[in-house]
Amino acid sequence: MRKQIVAGNWKMNKTLDQGLQLVSEIVNMVQDEVHNGALVVLCPPFTHLQSVVHLTKGRTNVFVGAQNCSDKVSGAFTGEVSAEMLASLGVQYVILGHSERREYFAETNAQLAAKVDLALANGLKPIFCCGETLFQRQEQDYKALVCEQLTESLFHLSADQITGFVIAYEPIWAIGTGLTASKEQAQEMHLTIRDHFAAKYGAEVAASLSILYGGSAKPSNAPELFANPDVDGGLIGGASLLSRDFTDIVKAL
Ligand code: 13P
Repeated sequence: MRKQIVAGNWKMNKTLDQGLQLVSEIVNMVQDEVHNGALVVLCPPFTHLQSVVHLTKGRTNVFVGAQNCSDKVSGAFTGEVSAEMLASLGVQYVILGHSERREYFAETNAQLAAKVDLALANGLKPIFCCGETLFQRQEQDYKALVCEQLTESLFHLSADQITGFVIAYEPIWAIGTGLTASKEQAQEMHLTIRDHFAAKYGAEVAASLSILYGGSAKPSNAPELFANPDVDGGLIGGASLLSRDFTDIVKAL
């Protein structure tokens, strides 16, 4: 059985105090109200990671993730944070390839392949993001473009490394816009992604992937998105900053 996951990507939001308050609320609500085996991954900014790891210690259904890591092992790369450093804090997940990193920081598929390798080498689980722009959806072969992101960053991995991998499909036109992919659009892309992995790694490996949906997911639309057979949870931005909304999304799994 593949894992069902709701991950919160806080992006560049919350001071340390505000973040720890949010984590305390989520941990309590998740503990009291969610007994469905879903995993929760909280991805605060780097500066909060150590404290959040501490606050969630011993919770079997709440894990901590970073929002990025360097594509270099170590050395003179001012301002960068390595996968090894994240692992040394007790962080378990790392979001890689988010469209905001691809767009604002010019991350390429090849660079992301290097980040994935370093994450795995240090025992971190990548949450690997892919997705198309509105222009690509309307004017181009958007399915092929998304598959290309996956091929170029992940297809050098072995079947063992891909087994249980976490992918996040995030249509860029739905991120922070209030526009959500319809449940049919989400299912179509999640199935396309699973089929793409099946063609390379076989059906069994493809069935083990957790494919999360991201893009204006909220309590009102999560139930129908999550009801799709190939949607295994969500990567939540704005709604992950509100404990009630985030917990309601976890409950929808
Ligand atoms: P929103 O949920 O705010 O649209 O953000 C989605 C996202 O980018 C999560 O990584």
